[in-house]
Amino acid sequence: MEKLLYEGKAKQVYEGQNENEYIIHYKDDATAGNGAKHDQFEGKGVLNNTISCIIFDMLEEAGIKTHMIEKINDRDIRVKKVEIFPLEVIVRNITAGSFCKRYGVKEGIVLDEPIFETSYKNDEYGDPLMNEDHAVALKLATREELAYIKETTLKINELLKAFFLKLNLKLVDFKIEFGKTADGEILLADEISPDSCRLWDVDTNQKYDKDVFRQDIGDLIETYKAVLARMQDK
Ligand code: TMP
Repeated sequence: MEKLLYEGKAKQVYEGQNENEYIIHYKDDATAGNGAKHDQFEGKGVLNNTISCIIFDMLEEAGIKTHMIEKINDRDIRVKKVEIFPLEVIVRNITAGSFCKRYGVKEGIVLDEPIFETSYKNDEYGDPLMNEDHAVALKLATREELAYIKETTLKINELLKAFFLKLNLKLVDFKIEFGKTADGEILLADEISPDSCRLWDVDTNQKYDKDVFRQDIGDLIETYKAVLARMQDK
């Protein structure tokens, strides 16, 4: 077994076959509220890996540069080694989640324009909202890097919205992460799955994402299987 370098809430990162690569392993754990709620769901890692690989392939084909090299098996992928920017990059198309709590607005308002938002990826401080000046001052990224991240993220939003709409799902919001290679290339990294997106059925507004676990309103595995089934039926 390769050397474990980092263990996150839902994934592990191992040393790769060579120094420019990592292996990412998807676990069955689900957490919410910065780890306050924690459970295991057999098969979740396989579902997220499968869903995320399909989405990363679609984005690569559309010209987005990602860390993805290849899927090794149901739970493991080979990726390019990057240093992750400690920023959670979020886009909101419809109000939900922390946006509603923070600003006292109702869930489900369709926004005139997508909101681009970043927060500091730091569990100890509760992932606080962070603007560009904060990130630059703390030397988390340069202004140029942040401009590239924003432009790429808004492109990804358009691609994901169209992708999910074909599955009769509305992309409410999502979180992505970017990293930088040793050569300074910025790549989309981490995952895109129902753990990191909010997806609502176009006709019924039924939730097809981790909110079923956060809010105890449905079976997580059945929900994620239903998302994958729509992707495979397409
Ligand atoms: P939020 O409304 O809780 O800020 O979440 C916005 C989106 O980002 C939602 O699709 C869930 C996703 N997200 C993550 O994937 N990981 C996180 O740690 C957080 C806070 C949000």
